[in-house]
Amino acid sequence: MRVLVIGSGGREHALSLALARDPEVTSLHAAPGNVGIARLAELHPVTATDPDDVTALAARLGADLVIIGPEAPLVAGVADALREKGIACFGPDAGAAMIEGSKSFAKDVMAAAGIPTAAAHSCVTADQAAAALAAFGPPYVVKDDGLAGGKGVLVTTDAAAARQHAEDCGKVVIEEFLDGPELSLFALCDGAAAIPLLPAQDFKRARDGDRGPNTGGMGAYTPLPWLPDDLAGQVMDTVVEPAIGELRRRGTPYRGVLYAGLCLTASGIKVVEFNARFGDPEIQVVLDRLATPLAGLLYGAATGSLAAAPPPRWTPGAAVTVVIAAEGYPEKPVSGDVIEGLDDAERPGASYVLHAGTASGETGSVVSAGGRVLDVVGTGPDLTGARAAAYRAAASIRMRGGWYRKDIAERAAADAAADS
Ligand code: AMP
Ligand code: GLY
Repeated sequence: MRVLVIGSGGREHALSLALARDPEVTSLHAAPGNVGIARLAELHPVTATDPDDVTALAARLGADLVIIGPEAPLVAGVADALREKGIACFGPDAGAAMIEGSKSFAKDVMAAAGIPTAAAHSCVTADQAAAALAAFGPPYVVKDDGLAGGKGVLVTTDAAAARQHAEDCGKVVIEEFLDGPELSLFALCDGAAAIPLLPAQDFKRARDGDRGPNTGGMGAYTPLPWLPDDLAGQVMDTVVEPAIGELRRRGTPYRGVLYAGLCLTASGIKVVEFNARFGDPEIQVVLDRLATPLAGLLYGAATGSLAAAPPPRWTPGAAVTVVIAAEGYPEKPVSGDVIEGLDDAERPGASYVLHAGTASGETGSVVSAGGRVLDVVGTGPDLTGARAAAYRAAASIRMRGGWYRKDIAERAAADAAADS
């Protein structure tokens, strides 16, 4: 199978790594890719959000499957264009990707399908925003309606800051605060059938102890020892199946991954958000544990034959990823710092490094080129071992201004160790 991956971050590096291991994949291409992906796939320049450009590249390469990593190309209709040309594509059409592209659309789908989520109001004017904030009370949750790379959400007890964020964004969704641990569940969908992958937990805040601003995600781990056993099944029944059923009824069948961002509240599981792509960095740890070859699963989702694909199998043990961020992330990340120690971080069977925001520097060096620069992945028989491997690898990387959270999976590892 000839496979083309669209995107250039840590998620696409993780996808490329899993695809490169898959014996069914005879040739692997990525566009635009990054320095790390270049070791696994042939890279091609592309404007990822341009449907004609991506379609022309896929046709030229004779791609049997195109996997779209980030949300922007999906919302721009790249998947629609590929399917129109008869090219199998993993990723929803623009109409279905609205589940991520518009928070108010997602809320509408959830209301129609009876999916549990925070009560919410869509607001356009300052008066509407003020009324909604007063109705819910603190902590206030104010969400930019459109795509904001995970950074459009403000959770605060400061009413003036909440009003200001609403004004800055224009159209917002203001909602009830959900209290409880969060998790991400990815379901592969082929328009009709859906299967869940392993749940993972992301750390969205920039600083240790869940302080600081929201980011795209500072680290993740799987499995989640604290989850009720039947949780994935329950999420499929109450969230994923109703959502894809509703989208099918609306004439926009969902093909790709439906990312359910969930909160385990005192009154049960509730949806925080939907995304139309894999979570980054959660998919890095999920793919680390996937024993089933990836291409067949994604091809099944792309071609409506998921029900016939073998169910995913998982490697026992745990994986933890720690994001190494650039100075100034998330507000104003600094680029161009030389990264050293990448080889020291690679230990077969224990740790490896995925590139999230890197570029080639002078004389063969690798330099930072984004806010989230690297994802260091550690594995082990349990979370304690996986954390140790990830942090040992993170400590061996040297980059001016680089920093990372020190508490990824700390609590889950300690609780699991205390229980065993
Ligand atoms: P979103 O982009 O909707 O996932 O929001 C980003 C982050 O903001 C989430 O992962 C949560 O940590 C937080 N958040 C979003 N909505 C809520 C909510 N209703 N209650 C509490 N926290 C929220
Ligand atoms: N890690 C959160 C996201 O991908 O949206």
